[in-house]
Amino acid sequence: MSTYLVPDQTTSHHRTAINGENQIPKEEEEAYNKLHEKLDGILATMPKDKGWRSQNIFLYKDFWLSSGVIKGLLMIHDYFQPQPTDIFLAAFMKCGTTWLKALMFATANRNRFKFSDHPLNRTGPQSAFPFLDTHIYLDYPVTKFDHLPSPRLFATHFAHSLLPTSMTSPSSTAKFVYVCRDPKDAFISKWHFMSKLRSKELTPISFNEAYDLFCNGISEYGPFWDHVLGYWKASRESPEKILFLKYEDMKREPSMELKKLAAFMGMPFTAAEEEGGVVEEIVKLCSFENLSNLQVNKDGGGAQKFTAQVVVENHDFFRKGNVGDWENYLTEEMRNRIDSITETKLKGSGLTLGLTKKT
Ligand code: A3P
Repeated sequence: MSTYLVPDQTTSHHRTAINGENQIPKEEEEAYNKLHEKLDGILATMPKDKGWRSQNIFLYKDFWLSSGVIKGLLMIHDYFQPQPTDIFLAAFMKCGTTWLKALMFATANRNRFKFSDHPLNRTGPQSAFPFLDTHIYLDYPVTKFDHLPSPRLFATHFAHSLLPTSMTSPSSTAKFVYVCRDPKDAFISKWHFMSKLRSKELTPISFNEAYDLFCNGISEYGPFWDHVLGYWKASRESPEKILFLKYEDMKREPSMELKKLAAFMGMPFTAAEEEGGVVEEIVKLCSFENLSNLQVNKDGGGAQKFTAQVVVENHDFFRKGNVGDWENYLTEEMRNRIDSITETKLKGSGLTLGLTKKT
């Protein structure tokens, strides 16, 4: 099981159903069983299609989700209690979650740790804070996150419209940092990643098949475009609640984007910090070059447990970290199809994907 840097609440709050000191109250167990019945009902009736990692994904409230994360979503709705100071990192898969996790953790805790001996260099970013979607049930029957220090940081891949209003409503002061990426790069990254995770008992998904599924919106947490648009629109309505970032802008000007991030998180860099090089230290610490070369992120260096079945090597979260790798994979025709879907879907939204043009 993954351990979280501050503090390790996955083990300290582990409770057991077996007779013992921390026995689970009967009502809690009954509620948990009811939730499972609800999940079974959903899975039996929802439209399903081919999953990229598992056999099937299900169309739940307009988004394609695996059974494991539908369970997480139901639990978030029933049990998760957001705090006014919570900050959620949200992204479609493969758009920069790992990078942002490192940046947000390093920024929020910059006065706690020395850069010369930083815990991120020992544990890697995956362990920096919980991935809400499945961590919510890693401790039976439900994980309590009460002991995380404030501001609590969480990551999620869920679409904005799927999350409870206690988290998303503009009247709640919890914040979201959303990072998006050119869908062509997100697709290439996701195909590599999911091919590694795909159960060996299933036939592999070919590149062309994955491409068609992606274009049709059918991939875990997709459709990609609806995901991005949901957060984009919400960020336009409540810019103080949702910061909308782009992977490409971060690659171009990491220091500038980091300053934006810190200010949004309510922890702007002071003039003394800027003069002292703190911004550059964080950028360097969280760079692909630094993180991908850490022992904990090398092959066999460490892993994350998402569910009982899904354990992912830290190493697999790092591939190339480039903008435009799609050029090495997509034909002209394939590129045009994705670009034209993007154009149609985003028309009138004011959003363009990829690098923001400087005015
Ligand atoms: P590629 O597969 O294109 O290399 P996520 O963290 O959301 O799963 O996204 C993974 C993508 O981000 C991968 O893209 C990965 O290599 C890249 N990545 C991971 N850490 C990064 C970092 N510190 N800086 C830039 N890109 C990073």
